[in-house]
Order: sequence, then structure tokens, then C-alpha cells
Amino acid sequence: MTLICAVIAADTPAAAEAMKVEALSAGAEAFEVRLDAFAEIPDDFSFLPTEKPVIATLRSELDEERREIFAKALASGAAYVDIESDSVLRGVFPKSQVICSYHDFTKTPAAWDILRIFRDLSSSGVPKAAFMVRGPADLLEIWKAAVVLKQSGDPFILIGMGAAGEVTRIRAADIGSMVSYCAVRPEFASAPGQITVAEAARLGDDPIITAITGWPLEHTRSPQMHNAAFRASGIRGRYVRIPSTAEELPLLPEVLRCYRIRGANVTIPHKQTVMPLLSEVLPEAKSAGAVNTILVDPSGRLTGTNTDIAGISATIADLRITPSNARVLVAGAGGAARAAVSCLTAAGAAVSVTNRTMEKARTLAAEFGATAVPRDELCAGYDLIINATPAGMSGFSQDIPVPVSILTPDTAVFDMVYEPEMTPLLAAAGDAGVRAAVCGKAMLIAQAAASFTLWTGIEADAAAMTAAFGGSP
Ligand code: ATR
Repeated sequence: MTLICAVIAADTPAAAEAMKVEALSAGAEAFEVRLDAFAEIPDDFSFLPTEKPVIATLRSELDEERREIFAKALASGAAYVDIESDSVLRGVFPKSQVICSYHDFTKTPAAWDILRIFRDLSSSGVPKAAFMVRGPADLLEIWKAAVVLKQSGDPFILIGMGAAGEVTRIRAADIGSMVSYCAVRPEFASAPGQITVAEAARLGDDPIITAITGWPLEHTRSPQMHNAAFRASGIRGRYVRIPSTAEELPLLPEVLRCYRIRGANVTIPHKQTVMPLLSEVLPEAKSAGAVNTILVDPSGRLTGTNTDIAGISATIADLRITPSNARVLVAGAGGAARAAVSCLTAAGAAVSVTNRTMEKARTLAAEFGATAVPRDELCAGYDLIINATPAGMSGFSQDIPVPVSILTPDTAVFDMVYEPEMTPLLAAAGDAGVRAAVCGKAMLIAQAAASFTLWTGIEADAAAMTAAFGGSP
């Protein structure tokens, strides 16, 4: 069984006591007391929260002083002292009272090397190692090592650090780790990927896990939206980041199976390249030429679909447009434009495509029976104009991708850009008095809600997702 271990890092005994009370009520089952957080190490160690197992940790160069403090901590009821593998204090305390720890803040080594490290650590105490996880390959090495470590039946602690390591913390029970280190509050988290005590207690030992992969993943808003939906629906579930380079993407299916991940979103730049890695790609994703959602069934079979289409359809419905008899202009000829053109033509809309590079617009239009129209030949008369280019997005050109003259009061405008929510196109649309105008936020929320429903079978709380859109994960 994996214990929820609350990290108590406070600068005074009174603050440590308050943090302990908060952690206990949130569900802490063990404590790591960071003695190095104290402004001054107290003489009296009665503040140690010995109602649960306590690990005393003190990173310091002053070894003689540390030896005394550790001895005092053990005499005052700490179950373990945490001693680094390269410390001169290694071997000083009885093995049964030591956690012998090793950290690699840059990488995760191969499984055989992890096992070699654990063999060495276990000669001095409960072995603990934490490795920086960079992507799928590192996650698999940790998994392979855990499978072997579990066989011995001896306690050990194995952690993947960094945002990409979060899944190792959520699956700590599967990994077999003796404890999972958790922050008492989000602002106290000592490492990215560390969850709170309350969140660990909410999740329990066997939560549903969903994920997102892409490269890079720093700016994605999906974790906050999905985690808000899990909380709002009362599902013990957690949505994690698994950043992956193109080289490591082929390892993703194995990661999804090992860590029992129920589904994953796929984002830039993997929406096309993920397709050959899946057992099946559903027709709407084939037609859109991209997969943004993977569903993993209990046998480990991977099905790819595209909920961007549902996001586009929901946004168009919100604009009160019936695609079957609508005249629609799509600006752009990349992946986002393709998704819009494929779903609108399938719904019977008369679609025109315009693009900076007209050759690409012609190819896209020809594939779906749409019409390619150069920008300087565009005339008013569209029921809906969709911007599927990054023009207007922060960090990109702030050009308006269509002539302002075609923005009329009969037209609705859907700008797929969501950052910022007010783009030059939407501002011009407002000035022109268009019938309705929306940014890409609604689409993003609708696609997230559709993925959530696919994975959980439960309708997502769109209000919770919307509220979380700009919040913290
Ligand atoms: P995505 O998958 O998000 O659609 P993409 O495949 O890179 O991204 O496609 C981006 C589209 O936006 C392309 O049609 C691109 O035009 P080109 O085909 O000429 O490259 C278009 N685009 C990018 N920047 C643009 C800008 N500043 N103004 C107008 N169109 C732009």
C-alpha cells in the first residue's frame, strides 16, 4: 500500500504544527518533515507529527551537526531519517531507520541502471530514487524497473520528477512505491508534478488517468479544463501531461497501456503522425486527416478519433447556423482548416477556401468538393467566415486573414484563435456589425468536453471547464 506522505516544510515549530493539522485533515498518512526549512533547528523535537510515520530530512553540508540532529529526530519518534547515497552519514544509523536516497535532476537512466542504483541504496536503508522524466522513454524505464523491484516484496520509493513524471506519482500504488510525496497546498509544491495531499486522497489508489501528448506542452490549457471536469463530476480522475518528441511518439501506446491510461489527447505536432500507431482510426478522424483523441479499451486496443470536429460543430450550432444550407468561407489550408472543411462539407455546406498559398487551398478544396477562392476575389455573401490560420494569435502576424469588406451584418464570424480572445478579425467584425462573432475558446472547451465524455461516459460540466480555462492546473 502506498502512503500519502505530506511534505511539511515550515520555518517554525508552530507553522509545522499548523501544516500538520491541515495535512491530517486532508488525508495525510505519513509525513516528511523538512528540517532544512526551519529558520533555526529547534532544541525541542516534540513538534514531530509522530501520530503517523515520520521521515526526517535535512539537506546540509554540516555533517557533524546533521548527525546529532538526525539522532535526536529518531529518539523523538521519527521512523526514518533520509540520508543521501553519497553522504558521509551513510551507514551511521541502523538500516531499519534510514531511507537512503538518490536524485537525478536531469534524466532517467535505463531500467538496468535504475536497478543497479536500488541494489546499492538498499544496503543502507529503504532505497529511494527520484529521476527527472523527460518523456515516454523515461516513463517506460521507470515502469520496467518497478516491475522488478516489486518482485522482492521489500519496501522502496521510486518517483518520476517533473511535469512528465506526474503519472508516476498518480500510479504510485501500481509502481509499488512505499510513499507518494505530496504538497499540503498547491503553492507549497516543491517540484512540478507533485500533487496535493487532498488531491491524492480524492484520487485514491486506482484513479482514472487521461493524458495529453504533444511537443512542447507548457502552454496547453487542457489539464486545467479536464481536471476541473473530473472534480465537478465527482470522478476519481486526473489528466496528466506526457510531452513527447517525434522520436519518442512510437513509445506512447506502451506508456498508455503500462500506466493504465484510459485516453489521451494528441496535439501539435503529432496529430497526423500518431495515426499509424493506432489499432483503428475512426472515419471522422480519417476524413479530417488528424487524430486529437485516443481511446484505450480494457484490452489495450487504441482507437483514434477527432473531437475537434465536435468542437467546430458545437460552435457553429451556437452561432445558430445550420450547415446544410450555409455558405461558408474557411481561411487557411492547414490541419485546422481541413477539420472545418471536412465537417462542413459532410454536413452539406457550400464551402469556399482561401489561403495565403492558393495552391494549398486548391488541393484542400478539391479533396472535399469545395471551391478555392483567392483573397482578392472574395465578395460578401457568406453566412459564416471561419479563420483557421494563426493570424491574430499572440506571437503571430496580426493581419486580418480576409478582406474587411466581406464582413457584413448578415455574416457570422468564428475565429479559431483563442489567445487572445479578441483578435484583429473579431474587432473588425464588431466594427462591421456582423450578426455574431466568437473566438476559439468555445471550440476548445467543446472538443475537451467531447473527449471527456468519450473516456468517462459522462457528460462534462462545461461550466466548470469554462471557469477553469484560464486557471491553474
Ligand atoms: P494548423 O494545423 O493549426 O492549421 P498549419 O498546418 O501550419 O497549422 O496551417 C496554418 C495555415 O495558416 C496555413 O494555411 C497557412 O498558410 P500557408 O499555407 O500559406 O502557409 C496559414 N497562415 C499562417 N500564418 C498566416 C498569416 N499570417 N496570414 C494568413 N495565413 C496564415
